[in-house]
Amino acid sequence: MKLLILNGSPKCERSNTLNIAKAFAEGFPESTEVEILHLAKMHIKPCLGCFSCWGKTAGKCVIDDDMGIISEKILASDIIVESFPLYFFGMPSTLKAMTDRCLPFMKPYEGGFAGGFHEMRDGRMNIKKLVIISTCGYVEAAPMYEALRKQLDSICGKSHYTAIFCPQGELFVSDYGRRQREGYLRDIKRAGEEFADSFTISPETRSKIDKPILSPAGFEAITSAHWKQQKPHG
Ligand SMILES: Cc1cc2nc3c(=O)[nH]c(=O)nc-3n(C[C@H](O)[C@H](O)[C@H](O)COP(=O)(O)O)c2cc1C
Repeated sequence: MKLLILNGSPKCERSNTLNIAKAFAEGFPESTEVEILHLAKMHIKPCLGCFSCWGKTAGKCVIDDDMGIISEKILASDIIVESFPLYFFGMPSTLKAMTDRCLPFMKPYEGGFAGGFHEMRDGRMNIKKLVIISTCGYVEAAPMYEALRKQLDSICGKSHYTAIFCPQGELFVSDYGRRQREGYLRDIKRAGEEFADSFTISPETRSKIDKPILSPAGFEAITSAHWKQQKPHG
């Protein structure tokens, strides 16, 4: 089995979210080939909107950059994990550029609306599993991820991806809450084990990983203590 982690955080290895993606991958059998691509280190130009990939160069983008490598790796993987921070209720710009550049994977639009997004050119794309892992800074996930969830539902189809949304992301670089954070990562590893086995996460594990790492009161106490410690410049 091949698992590809597309890290959309500009912080690359220092990404809060990557802690979760790595713990998820640790749940997979040792024989699993895991590869991490840090998108911020790659050259991904924005889509030109020329639609060549739907016409003259069918299935191929006219831009010559690292998207060719990324597309090949996507095609060669069984499980794609997109790992990224929430930026203004959506995905960060590099990952959005990469998403736009996935247009060559899709068949051209030929009118009508069947309630979903485009059919894929290559049948291999239909059997891949997509896992979305994201952290945000806010205390709880539900109000933060509403817009992203709608976008993902529209792009992938509601039942075609598995999402792990984790609020309180800055706890991954905090001296506080270590015990709770480690417990959370153990539950994520368990989610990875289950996913490797059945491509689903059990309701029991799901209820654990959907809970914020700290209670709202605990998180507030830590956050305000953090800002009180910061000295203003000048
Ligand atoms: C430009 C920018 C926009 C952000 N927008 C949001 C947001 O809309 N909601 C939120 O809860 N956190 C937001 N955050 C906080 C990040 O999502 C959070 O710090 C995350 O854990 C960073 O993950 P990373 O280390 O993997 O990049 C934003 C951070 C930045 C830098």
